[in-house]
Amino acid sequence: MSKVLVLAGDGIGPEIVREAVKVLDVAKQKFALDVELDEALVGGAAVDAENDPLPQTTLEKARAADAILFGSIGGPKWDAIERDKRPERGLLRLRSTLGLFANLRPAILFPQLADASSLKPEVVSGLDILIVRELTGGIYFGQPRGIKEENGERVGFNTYVYTESEMRRIAKVAFELAMKRDKRVLSVDKANVLEVTELWKEVVTEEAKAYPEIELSHMYVDNAAMQLVRAPKQFDVIVTGNLFGDILSDEAAMLTGSIGMLPSASLDENRKGLYEPCHGSAPDIAGQGIANPLATIMSLAMLMRYSLERGDVADAIEAAVESVLDQGLRTADIYTEGTRKVGTEEMGSAVADALLKA
Ligand code: NAD
Ligand code: IPM
Ligand code: MN
Repeated sequence: MSKVLVLAGDGIGPEIVREAVKVLDVAKQKFALDVELDEALVGGAAVDAENDPLPQTTLEKARAADAILFGSIGGPKWDAIERDKRPERGLLRLRSTLGLFANLRPAILFPQLADASSLKPEVVSGLDILIVRELTGGIYFGQPRGIKEENGERVGFNTYVYTESEMRRIAKVAFELAMKRDKRVLSVDKANVLEVTELWKEVVTEEAKAYPEIELSHMYVDNAAMQLVRAPKQFDVIVTGNLFGDILSDEAAMLTGSIGMLPSASLDENRKGLYEPCHGSAPDIAGQGIANPLATIMSLAMLMRYSLERGDVADAIEAAVESVLDQGLRTADIYTEGTRKVGTEEMGSAVADALLKA
């Protein structure tokens, strides 16, 4: 029996997670999966109920689960509260406590969405990039951090730090994944300015010696950001640190048509994982029933593939998503002329139906 913990969170979180659970229920039935679902509070919802974005009961359930399906957290309601109580800190603590250091963010363009991309179809058609983002270190977690008074003014500070072992383990994940793909890895750094990433580049290069078949290249992050919109198909696997990975993955999302199309897996050493869309709680559209649930549904597919080791179920879910796109169904964010605009619920039900009938 596998235990899956559902953490819906805030804003559009509950709306999109509901649709993914609909698909999960069909998958359970169709593939006779022995999966037990549980749920708990996280983010702003948990702050409201328990004054803590990651209550102890939620953390305990997360520890006991084989995988976590996560919606999104945060929103203007909680932006001004004490820093440690903010929803985002709950997610960061969850990633860090569970050791979810390897964040996989696949940016794949479905051919049906070539016109929905903000770039020309010929620039993006066939796009298949995997961003491997380090998730539990770097400037997100470095100490000291804070805001202080100094010489009569306020000073904000963070620390950008990576240990050699943190760099080695994420490089290894990228190389292992690349071996199953096109065997090309781009490491993104700012080694011309920042010592941390100078060492990053060195360590990744050393680690690559164990993978003679891999073609490793390096790029500064500013150039990489530019190349992603100039000629994104030159990339296969991109490995980078926490902050650069956060930014580059949102950028890559747009190549696929929408941030609502980018799923993710956050894995520990044993492939226990948290699965969530790359986007946030989208306060601007929350409650309207128009959010795109596909990134969350495809995160569920990744959950099947990586934590439950059911690649067959993952393939079936992804095929169901494709078939719905073939039917011409589009949420507002990926809508183009000649297709049919649907809401969150209709999109989720259509995927569930397609999976059932496959
Ligand atoms: P966002 O990703 O929530 O939204 C950015 C834009 O993309 C908005 O216009 C939004 O409507 C749109 N969008 C996002 N997801 C969509 C979807 N599924 N379908 C259609 N459109 C979608 O980023 P933001 O506005 O910078 O952040 C809002 C809140 O979310 C903040 O509190 C932030 O901290 C939080 N956040 C949480 C996560 C997470 O839970 N992992 C990730 C990013 C941001
Ligand atoms: C993401 C988000 C988070 C991050 C925030 C909400 C902490 O932007 O998952 O990409 O920066 O990692
Ligand atoms: Mn982000």
